[in-house]
Amino acid sequence: MTVTDPAAQKPRVVSGAQPSADSLHLGNYIGAVRNWVQMQDDYETVYFIPDLHAVTVDYRPEELAHRTRVTAAQYIAAGIDPEKSTLFVQSHVPEHAQLAWALNCITGFGEASRMTQFKDKTQRYGNDAATVGLFAYPTLMAADILLYQAGLVPVGEDQRQHLELTRTLAQRFNHRFGETFVVPEGMIVKETAKIYDLQNPTAKMSKSAESPNGLIQLLDDPKVTAKKIKSAVTDAGTEIRFDRENKPGISNLLTIHSTLSGRTIPQLEADYEGRMYGHLKVDLAELVTSFITPLRDRTNELLADPAELDRILAHGAKRAREIASVTFKDAFEKMGFLPLAGGF
Ligand code: TYM
Repeated sequence: MTVTDPAAQKPRVVSGAQPSADSLHLGNYIGAVRNWVQMQDDYETVYFIPDLHAVTVDYRPEELAHRTRVTAAQYIAAGIDPEKSTLFVQSHVPEHAQLAWALNCITGFGEASRMTQFKDKTQRYGNDAATVGLFAYPTLMAADILLYQAGLVPVGEDQRQHLELTRTLAQRFNHRFGETFVVPEGMIVKETAKIYDLQNPTAKMSKSAESPNGLIQLLDDPKVTAKKIKSAVTDAGTEIRFDRENKPGISNLLTIHSTLSGRTIPQLEADYEGRMYGHLKVDLAELVTSFITPLRDRTNELLADPAELDRILAHGAKRAREIASVTFKDAFEKMGFLPLAGGF
């Protein structure tokens, strides 16, 4: 099977980042959003804000709409062009939840129980707080991808298992009901697939970080960011060298530097030969703040005009539905549901 929808000119790409915090963080940017921006010219790109996913854990209703707009504004500020990419909010396209239901019905209970993110979150929030929604989260993610017949899904390392499940479900559906879905490939860029916490450089950078000092939020005050980088945990020894095993702190700082400066890791190792950890931190603080300051300004500019942002998202939802409704109708007909005479 080809990775393209027969109707599409270029292979299609789908991805999204949850609006579950007041800002995306540097791990989201380096591991995902940055790649999305670069893919816009060579692929047909579909980027969305998975707000249905954000309600699978405890959240505050009064914050959700704002966080959804913030995430959209951050995508655009980072370089997602709503003219080039289809940019929309997941809950505006009802086919996501509808197809997820169908996928729930071909997913084994044991299979869903093996998802490590579910197990981690259940441990963190406690069994009673874990909802059926959290359990079914990966099938909703599969629906997000399969509805668009995506060939490629650019994500960070932590989504690998969910993508594997998506592929399995696509194959299972196709086998049981007839060829319907493109079986997608993950695009996980090895070097940047996992950015680590600055205070605990063996854990991934995450919005649920133990200490806020380990997390760089893209909307943080740049002064705060500089301070966090300067107080990042480093390793024993003095040599600035990439060694994930023995020097996780320095390796993480080198990865972030390399991504934002465009210099390769060997170049950086040569640049910093004979210099101290402190030199690297000072330079990196400067590099990160000069990257996030314009991004933050642009995000705030976009947020100052929520009506325009909502208009962009409504336009995106319309385009998304044009694709999603075709796949959805095909999938439901193949499953044997009675078509609605005359349509809606
Ligand atoms: P989310 O919102 O947790 O993260 C968004 C993207 O950022 C990546 N990421 C990281 N990459 C490198 N280092 C890190 N420390 C780091 N933290 C996060 C994630 O891998 C992800 O690519 N389930 C998804 C959202 C989703 C989705 C989808 C993605 C819903 N439906 C369909 C792709 C396709 C999630 O929770 O990502």
